[in-house]
Amino acid sequence: MANFNQESVLNVHHWTDNLFSFTTTRDPSFRFRNGEFVMIGLETGDRPLMRAYSVASANYEPNLEFFSIKVPDGPLTSRLQHLKEGDQIIVGRKSTGTLVIDNLTNGRNLYLIGTGTGLAPFLSVIKDPATYGRFEKIVLLHGCRRVVELAYGEMITEKLPQDELIGELIREQLIYYPTVTRDPFRNRGRITSLITSGKLFSDISLPNLDAAKDRVMICGSPALLADTKSILIEKGFEEGNHGQAADFVVEKAFAER
Ligand code: A2P
Repeated sequence: MANFNQESVLNVHHWTDNLFSFTTTRDPSFRFRNGEFVMIGLETGDRPLMRAYSVASANYEPNLEFFSIKVPDGPLTSRLQHLKEGDQIIVGRKSTGTLVIDNLTNGRNLYLIGTGTGLAPFLSVIKDPATYGRFEKIVLLHGCRRVVELAYGEMITEKLPQDELIGELIREQLIYYPTVTRDPFRNRGRITSLITSGKLFSDISLPNLDAAKDRVMICGSPALLADTKSILIEKGFEEGNHGQAADFVVEKAFAER
């Protein structure tokens, strides 16, 4: 059996010159946990060209969704950005990843910290009813340089609260906190600075991070992961992974090199 499924592109949305999302069909046999990633790519001659992508759709949805940067000379994204409806891509049959709620111990509030396309796995996690069963408040932080890069903001604030399955959970338990560093905006500054200054917590009216009670998932650049991790470790948080649930989990946002 092949390691990949062929899927058809259903829709492509360009957010900016550098960011786009697309949806594809989903083989009924493809199972994943919300927050995981999968290898996707294109058939190019003799070898498929594949990269890891977080699945941005939830595991109960009929289609797959991915959120990508465009790297002008990136082997895969320079091609993927030209995808159009009806094109074929290949999707690995096996998903994996650490950003799943099963890798966290029980707690009070769950903080999802994503920068850039590091938002993608959390789009899946916030659509999962189980997330709301495990935690009281879910705080979704999205940090970007520019306001136009705050992709999915409208979906989170307008569409999800009306969703038949999870609308009520979203309205009662989800706090969305977008922040930008290089444009004027209502929330400004790096997520790390907003945490250390305490501004985040006064803005959202929640207590400061507490390792005994709060749980965190982080997805972004290596620098973001390192800086956020050291803030958490200083506060006594322990890192979890497969087989060892703990207080926080990290995954680097997949960028093309
Ligand atoms: P900044 O504009 O101050 O670099 P990038 O596109 O470089 O991944 O950045 C996405 C967002 O993450 C930007 O707002 C950026 O802020 C922020 N960022 C970059 N590095 C860090 C870091 N080490 N800690 C916290 N935020 C970061």
